[in-house]
Amino acid sequence: MDTENRNKKIVLVTGGSRGIGRSIALNAAKRGLGVILTYNANAEKGKAVADEILQNGGSAVALKLDVMNVSSFGDFTKQVSNVLAKEWSRDNFDYLVNNAGIAQRIAIKDTTESIFDDLVNVNFKGVFFLTQKLIPLMIDGGQIINISSGLARFAFPGVAVYGALKSAIEGLTRYFAIEYSDRKIRVNTVAPGAIDTEFGGGKGDQNHRQQIAGMTALGRLGEADDIGLFVASMLSDDSRFVNGQRIEVGGGIYI
Ligand SMILES: NC(=O)c1ccc[n+]([C@@H]2O[C@H](COP(=O)([O-])OP(=O)(O)OC[C@H]3O[C@@H](n4cnc5c(N)ncnc54)[C@H](OP(=O)(O)O)[C@@H]3O)[C@@H](O)[C@H]2O)c1
Repeated sequence: MDTENRNKKIVLVTGGSRGIGRSIALNAAKRGLGVILTYNANAEKGKAVADEILQNGGSAVALKLDVMNVSSFGDFTKQVSNVLAKEWSRDNFDYLVNNAGIAQRIAIKDTTESIFDDLVNVNFKGVFFLTQKLIPLMIDGGQIINISSGLARFAFPGVAVYGALKSAIEGLTRYFAIEYSDRKIRVNTVAPGAIDTEFGGGKGDQNHRQQIAGMTALGRLGEADDIGLFVASMLSDDSRFVNGQRIEVGGGIYI
């Protein structure tokens, strides 16, 4: 174990196999952080992100995590402890980014209990219990970033449950910030605007994409790196007095 590796700040990013989480993981590594990223259905993609970081001289480990499966969080936390000891000779980490999420475009009248429960379990319940389990492994003075959405601020047809859950995450962010203030753990929300990933089946046809671009002051959809670059920049002491805040990164959508 070299001293450089031992002195690295370490971030854990959920849903780091694709899209925004992948970009957060890669950009955090470029800034010198050690990265634990998680994948769920796409093991190969998750491992490929870790390999890319390693090939560029960084340190990273990819772990399997299903944020719907709360009963697996105890074992996952043990795996994180083992990885921290093995890769970085540490028993704690610095930053947690709760990024994994799902959406489904569906009208309120067609939303079944099972669709509702899946959305709640991934986007809200999983975030709550995973954070509860991992926080004892975080350093005092660390930071948690919860990924929300512009849809927590403005309503759009077809995403009622998802948008409401992202509002709930923003509320939860402030509650975690208050309850863990004794440990000086900062908790913030980053809310992406419309970002061009595979999320919820992607951003649709050319017409729909142009519509979204037209609502955005910067005149385009975002790219995963628009969010990854920003979140990675927050993973340092430069943001040391930002706490309990919601920061929208959406190119000025619906302003
Ligand atoms: N794209 C947008 O326009 C947009 C806008 C606002 C907010 N967001 C938010 O940004 C975050 C990332 O979105 P994205 O656009 O990057 O989506 P994405 O490209 O669909 O990627 C989703 C990521 O979440 C992981 N994931 C999905 N279900 C999971 C589960 N049950 N357990 C653990 N991981 C799971 C996926 O892992 P696997 O592939 O390995 O299964 C993947 O890494 C989400 O929280 C989303 O709500 C996105």
